[in-house]
Amino acid sequence: MNTLLITGASTGIGRATAIYFADKGWNVIATMRNAVQDVAFVQKTNITCLQLDVTNPASIESAVQQAIGKFGKIDVLFNNAGYALAGAFEAVTESQIRKQFETNVFGVMNVTRAILPHFRTNHAGIVLNTTSSGGIITFPLYSVYNSSKWAIEGFMESLQFELRQFGIVIKNIEPASVKSEFVENIEFISNPVYDNYSRSAQKGTLDGYKNAPTADVVAKIVYKAATDGEKKLRYAGTPQARLVFFMRWLLPLKWFNSIIAKQIEK
Ligand SMILES: NC(=O)c1ccc[n+]([C@@H]2O[C@H](COP(=O)([O-])OP(=O)(O)OC[C@H]3O[C@@H](n4cnc5c(N)ncnc54)[C@H](OP(=O)(O)O)[C@@H]3O)[C@@H](O)[C@H]2O)c1
Repeated sequence: MNTLLITGASTGIGRATAIYFADKGWNVIATMRNAVQDVAFVQKTNITCLQLDVTNPASIESAVQQAIGKFGKIDVLFNNAGYALAGAFEAVTESQIRKQFETNVFGVMNVTRAILPHFRTNHAGIVLNTTSSGGIITFPLYSVYNSSKWAIEGFMESLQFELRQFGIVIKNIEPASVKSEFVENIEFISNPVYDNYSRSAQKGTLDGYKNAPTADVVAKIVYKAATDGEKKLRYAGTPQARLVFFMRWLLPLKWFNSIIAKQIEK
């Protein structure tokens, strides 16, 4: 039986992915900051919950070792934990930016580093990452979040070269808006200078969530990426992301960004 380890499995995409893979017969190690009893998880004997905070190296090492100890082998790592810091760059503090990068960038690097020796020994392993459509394009007020996701896109695109010799494959899942706890968890910062712009642009962004798909849609794409045997780096995580990437490919950046601005800066 194959085994998947997920970070940020308490809610949203991580939780939906845990349930989807478990229903497909995989062993799932659902890791989360607070390993609470989730009824859906408790009902499935092939889901094991472990505590893991991606900003805490000791908790990463402990969860990875416990998972290997229990199942003998991990086949797929899904780096999914993350959140968004939003607001005008001048409004956010250095410590807020560092916290964003600690989770979205260094967290991903540290969990990946912890599992690579295991994948190298097995001469097999897939590293999946939830980046974002915002890891390929950008949105107003999300300069820090976008740069954290662009960082992971660049990091993973480069990392895949050196890992190929060990049979390790990297794949990025890039969703556009998805209904989850993500919006409630956005750390939105404003200040008087940018207040009018920030409030209207943030409203424009949140309007995009009205018709957003649920996290199950992304879970299916994560499953495809884990099982299709392809050596493809990037997967549009939602239908809207696929459309946006097509438009980005088709249009000059100036035109593309004016469409983004028109949608959001209402
Ligand atoms: N929803 C969207 O529109 C969207 C679009 C593109 C990309 N994404 C990306 O998709 C991923 C999953 O987001 P989601 O939509 O499922 O949102 P979500 O429901 O808020 O889930 C985020 C998960 O990350 C966890 N997390 C946050 N900081 C963590 C840390 N330091 N250590 C371990 N876990 C941590 C949260 O745990 P707690 O419960 O402990 O807070 C939660 O389980 C994120 O990387 C996000 O950036 C989301």
